Amino acid sequence: MPSVPADGYDLLVVANRLPVDIAVGDDGKPSWTRSPGGLVTALAPVMAGADGAWIGWGGSPDLELEPFEVDGTQLVPVPLSEADVEKYYEGFANDTLWPLYHDVIAPPTFHRQWWDAYQRVNRRFAEAAAAQAARGATVWVHDYQLQLVPRLLRELRPDLRIGYFHHIPFPPLEIFAQLPWRRQVVEGLLGADLVGFQRAGDAANFVRVVRRLTDLTTRGQVVTLTKHGRVERHVRAAAFPISIDSAAFDDLARSAAVQERAQQIRHELGDPEVLLLGVDRLDYTKGIRHRVKAYGELLEDGRLSPSTTTLVQVASPSRENVGAYQQLRDEVELLVGRINGDYGQVGHAPVQYLHQSFPMEEMAALYLAADVMLVTALRDGMNLVAKEYVAARSDDRGALVLSEFTGAADELQGAILVNPHDIDGMKDAITYAVHMDQREARKRMRRLRRRVLGHDVTAWAQEFLAVLTAVPTRSEHV
Ligand code: G6P
Repeated sequence: MPSVPADGYDLLVVANRLPVDIAVGDDGKPSWTRSPGGLVTALAPVMAGADGAWIGWGGSPDLELEPFEVDGTQLVPVPLSEADVEKYYEGFANDTLWPLYHDVIAPPTFHRQWWDAYQRVNRRFAEAAAAQAARGATVWVHDYQLQLVPRLLRELRPDLRIGYFHHIPFPPLEIFAQLPWRRQVVEGLLGADLVGFQRAGDAANFVRVVRRLTDLTTRGQVVTLTKHGRVERHVRAAAFPISIDSAAFDDLARSAAVQERAQQIRHELGDPEVLLLGVDRLDYTKGIRHRVKAYGELLEDGRLSPSTTTLVQVASPSRENVGAYQQLRDEVELLVGRINGDYGQVGHAPVQYLHQSFPMEEMAALYLAADVMLVTALRDGMNLVAKEYVAARSDDRGALVLSEFTGAADELQGAILVNPHDIDGMKDAITYAVHMDQREARKRMRRLRRRVLGHDVTAWAQEFLAVLTAVPTRSEHV
């Protein structure tokens, strides 16, 4: 068992990614930029205000770096070799767990070598956390890449208080049970004192999986672990819907620079009467193909005019070494090319497709410029883009078309809900949003904004940490 470090941290975040991407230049010197992704957006402001450390991967293979500080947070890099990136990150995390946990939209691949790498890398993260945590510290482990860490860490450091938050959906037993290592994964998660999910339905799925795959007893959302017939400890499962730094988007969208940029965007697009917007990582869970198809049909049917309507689709590059993502890119780009070929004119393309990532200021301007935001994911743990759009609409205008299959749909009353598999239904919803009268639009947006501004990422983290820190630790018992 590693010894307890004398100068350890009281609060540790353990996540696959650090909040920065590190690259090594030709001169051999590392430099960093803020990394993309929902988790980073969510946790950066929380960590900035706490005296804690963040343990994670720098985003490139074979980086052996000493801990360093960014914006008041100590960052502790965990190295991944090229083989780890291929088998643990691209393989087990993103080609086994990701599709399995998202309703098997793409078929998950089960490789024993990937599982070996997943175990090996999870152990490395657990050891890094054990070496940084002060006695009785709180450790917050994040997401599906690290499901074995809670148990491994508890074995190394029984004095710690361990929380785990699952950012993506937790599937029903019937799907989860496909995983050849399902039992080990459940036992890994049960190393935590508190297991948090986006939605009540995810927590219920997890508890049902525990009931069916282990012989542990559960009562409501609480699992009881016993040793030699005596209660050892309890694990609580609960929903904590994640949010964003709502005020930051609200402020940004109120700034003159962003408002001017929003007008400029519309102008550069040829002053369309109707501007639709999609913003996603280029991921098959996001329903981009379904959305673009529905839009193409609306142009074909003449319900939207190709000369006065524009769809801006931002699809930020993601997991580009994974086959399913490469295939998706080809499919989306084929579809976009067809629509622009069939309905475009010289100087005007009805789909503006951007396979790029943009800074927050540009995103806020896009949100403000758009008449209708389309969030039509086939499955999504939460979907922070939907919340960002709402937070940016300080003018109380705009409309949100939102998939029922996002965590956000549980919370965001005021959105126009759609089933993205129902192309006709989606076409009707888009048409409704485009023609909605201003009074109704305002009423809906105000309702949406009350929720998003009233429950931001700081509230989310505080709620999770408040429940977690109420759990007595081993060191408090002795
Ligand atoms: C989702 C996951 C995060 C992940 C992010 C970006 O939001 O829940 O854990 O970091 O996608 O994906 P990536 O593979 O680039 O980290």
